Amino acid sequence: MANVIIIGAQWGDEGKGKITDLLSRSADVVVRSQGGVNAGHTVVVQEQTFKLHLIPSGILYPETECIIGSGTVIDPEVLLEEIDQLKKLSISCDNLYISQTAHVTMPYHRLIDKASEERRGKYKLGTTGRGIGPTYADKAERTGIRIVDLIGKEKSIEKIKWTINYKNVILENLYHLKPMDPEVVIAQYLEYAEVLRPYVIDSSLKIDQAVRQKKNILFEGAQGTLLDLDHGTYPYVTSSNPIAGGACVGAGVGPTIIDRVIGVAKAYTTRVGEGPFPTELEGEIGELLCDRGAEFGTTTGRRRRCGWFDAVMGRYAVRINGLDCLAITKLDVLDTLEEIKVCVGYSIDGNNSNDFPTDPEALAKSQPIYETLPGWQQSTADCLSLEDLPKLALDYLKFLAEQLEVPIAIVSVGASRGQTIIIEDPIHGPKRALLDVNREPQ
Ligand code: IMP
Ligand code: MG
Repeated sequence: MANVIIIGAQWGDEGKGKITDLLSRSADVVVRSQGGVNAGHTVVVQEQTFKLHLIPSGILYPETECIIGSGTVIDPEVLLEEIDQLKKLSISCDNLYISQTAHVTMPYHRLIDKASEERRGKYKLGTTGRGIGPTYADKAERTGIRIVDLIGKEKSIEKIKWTINYKNVILENLYHLKPMDPEVVIAQYLEYAEVLRPYVIDSSLKIDQAVRQKKNILFEGAQGTLLDLDHGTYPYVTSSNPIAGGACVGAGVGPTIIDRVIGVAKAYTTRVGEGPFPTELEGEIGELLCDRGAEFGTTTGRRRRCGWFDAVMGRYAVRINGLDCLAITKLDVLDTLEEIKVCVGYSIDGNNSNDFPTDPEALAKSQPIYETLPGWQQSTADCLSLEDLPKLALDYLKFLAEQLEVPIAIVSVGASRGQTIIIEDPIHGPKRALLDVNREPQ
């Protein structure tokens, strides 16, 4: 039995959807704690691809309860589409729960997201344009609309009307956009609210009940450590806290209930949107990673920037999240390479550092120091255990574990459920060394 947090250890898109789906088999409850429809989790089951933005991937298991927690921001239109899509595929959403204190992404949030990106010009962030930043900004400014406001009675409607009129001032005067008709927006959102009403609960209370019943709870992160509002590559970050601590805040649980934190990282690195990326590869190898890894955003379809694995960043992710172990995904993407580089340090103004710089100027100047490892140049796509892996692939994994000083629990070698090497199930397994540097596979 364990309560486990799964987070992204890089810039998002590490394959958390697949790992969560896999571990959901052993979970009774899966909780999304932060982010909104900027997230895109791809899960492949029996040749069928599911692209989920808000609903936890645990929904694919009929018995698993899925909770969209307090710290998330909910775009009702997208959520309802997602529910509809799942229903069409005969996947029940009876076990879906939505926190009444989650904030709602309103149509003006999307407009402001896009308009402010345009206005930023060369300072643009490359957001997903889904209104995430403006929704969280309103939450912090205390002009946010919450789910409880939508399903509430008249008093809230007055408040929503006031808020839309307030936003109209910004839309018209700052961005020269057409104002919104509060009556139209309210009528539409109250309609959404009626459909969502049966799903709405006090989520922290429900999670607490699961804790007391000693159920297995999985906290599914969205985005990744380096996109964290406080600890990521600010300002090129998202507006929530995708790190492990954020899971507790967003779910409304204390850190003492967490047994384990798993970081998901690709065997290389990708980033979508603007911002620094020390190990980014331009040219042939970058293209190869992008093509072999099908590196296009789930939410926006944008081509992802690709680069070598960055162990400096990895060590930072271990520190910021208190990672117990790693899930390494997309190892198979490296199968054809003759040699593979791993960034083990940065050179900043001629000084070497093993620590990730949080000063953006220093990060911008950081030159990666690489170690080069030989590629295994054979397919790993059918490897079902560590013994099946080519020795050089195993050496590569050991090198990553050694650099990050955490063991590897799971290795993924393809998109489908079966293409996964579970060295140890982090939910049922005892807390001990996994693919440790000192441990040979049995
Ligand atoms: P926002 O979250 O839409 O405001 O975008 C801010 C930054 O986070 C941009 O660089 C996005 O590309 C990035 N981002 C947001 N969500 C995801 C995600 O789920 N995966 C990868 N990048 C993301
Ligand atoms: Mg994604």
